[in-house]
Amino acid sequence: MEYILDTADIKAIKHCNEFYPLSGVTTNPSIIAKENRNFWDIVKEIRDIIGPDKTFFAQTVQKTADKIVEEAVLMNEKSGGDFCVKIPICEEGLKATMELKKLGIKVLMTAIFTPAQALIAAKAGADYVAPYVNRLDNIIGDGCEVVAQIVEQFAIYDLPCKVLAASFKNAEQVHKCALSGCQCVTVTDDVLKAVITHPMTDAAIGGFEKDWQNVYGEKTILDF
Ligand code: G3P
Repeated sequence: MEYILDTADIKAIKHCNEFYPLSGVTTNPSIIAKENRNFWDIVKEIRDIIGPDKTFFAQTVQKTADKIVEEAVLMNEKSGGDFCVKIPICEEGLKATMELKKLGIKVLMTAIFTPAQALIAAKAGADYVAPYVNRLDNIIGDGCEVVAQIVEQFAIYDLPCKVLAASFKNAEQVHKCALSGCQCVTVTDDVLKAVITHPMTDAAIGGFEKDWQNVYGEKTILDF
């Protein structure tokens, strides 16, 4: 499982990159627009934090295949390290994906809501597909089941495309997707924190602290 952070919030990226085993950072036009700053400044700041080896994902805002390719090539050149362009699924996007594969640029096909969309994206050469789990759950569409079916299809057809599940609102959704064998999840810092949090863990840690302090006070192992 690869954990990827779904934000352009520099503070959150700094924090999560330090404390969690992240493989990269994903953004989309809505996430970038929230920052309301120069696009390239945001890209540079994210890259400075994550370094060249972790993957940075940014989405094209173009509508035609030629322009999508042009924008992807530019972002790939200027991203300062491992890069993957996000392209929403549509005819122009599929054409652009096939072109970008020839140029050796990684593609994530995004805004995926059905296994059928995912299968065609993978056949076009996408390196990743991003099904939107919570947006499906919001319309009783069982996002985790869609993710499971995509994973199953790629196994049946022996396709190398990875499933990078997106749009999460809670830890349960992440857990269900992990059980289905999806290779990556992209989550916010809040969801990441929810994944590692458990009241029984807090109680266990509290108990250890209390028992130790009853005998040794503030002394730590380093003080012996
Ligand atoms: O970038 C795709 C996805 O993670 C969006 O999530 O919360 O806008 O449904 P959300």
